[in-house]
Amino acid sequence: MSFLRFEGVAKSYGAVEIVAPFDLDVAEGELLAFLGPSGCGKTTLMRMVGGLERPSSGRIALRGETLGRPDRRRGMVFQSYSAFPWLTVAGNVAYGMRYRRDLDAEAKRAATARLLALVGLTEFADAYPNRISGGMRQRVAIARTLAAGSEILLMDEPFGALDAQRRELLQLALRRIQREERKTVIFVTHDVEEAAFLADRVIAFSARPARILEMVDVAGRLGAERTLETRETADFFALRNHLLHLVRGAGGAEGDAP
Ligand SMILES: Nc1ncnc2c1ncn2[C@@H]1O[C@H](COP(=O)(O)OP(=O)(O)OP(=O)(O)O)[C@@H](O)[C@H]1O
Ligand SMILES: [Mg+2]
Repeated sequence: MSFLRFEGVAKSYGAVEIVAPFDLDVAEGELLAFLGPSGCGKTTLMRMVGGLERPSSGRIALRGETLGRPDRRRGMVFQSYSAFPWLTVAGNVAYGMRYRRDLDAEAKRAATARLLALVGLTEFADAYPNRISGGMRQRVAIARTLAAGSEILLMDEPFGALDAQRRELLQLALRRIQREERKTVIFVTHDVEEAAFLADRVIAFSARPARILEMVDVAGRLGAERTLETRETADFFALRNHLLHLVRGAGGAEGDAP
């Protein structure tokens, strides 16, 4: 039985087809990138996995059980900033652990400190979200979602608002966490470099209605280990170009073409 399975999943709003029927199997512990042009239906797909939206047909199953309403098995990081303004930075992260029975108070404090360090916000633990930048608020939201300990992380262009350096650090951190904690991650992006650098496998989607153009085995080409040097290898360059051609051919009005 596969871990996470999309079976004939499709979505329409009224007469408008957003996602054409597709099948996809996701292995446990895999980091999957959904790559596709703006407006193709990526957020809609994530909302269906998260349970915020129902497929018009087909089903999404976790270990054979059809997924319905949102629950703690899937944690979501959205495109827009989603830190709670009434809690401090540390409070936001700790809030993510409110249902965790596996951690006592001391373990929660330690986990909060570790996650704050991971996203580079230790100094801002006691600040409120309205006093930090948008990129920092997004890092708070990421740490809070990681804190919840969900087995599937759904990340919808979470690094879009960050500068290139912070983005690269978080990409490396995400891969490390994902491998250490055996998380299954679906990461949405329209950035070919980000998809190539992060993913074990890239699912390239066409413009709306989203259809799978190709499933690209990145781990098979680059290996599972990623470092800052990975980006400088010939294999990475070839992969990036391959994805770029897929996205350009996808017909999105806002593909990554210069
Ligand atoms: N509730 C809704 N009712 C009607 N149409 C919708 C609804 N939600 C999304 N859509 C349409 O579905 C299409 C896909 O939207 P979606 O947000 O999933 O795209 P996306 O790939 O995430 O885009 P982006 O890369 O810009 O975030 C868009 O044309 C959008 O207008
Ligand atoms: Mg979107």
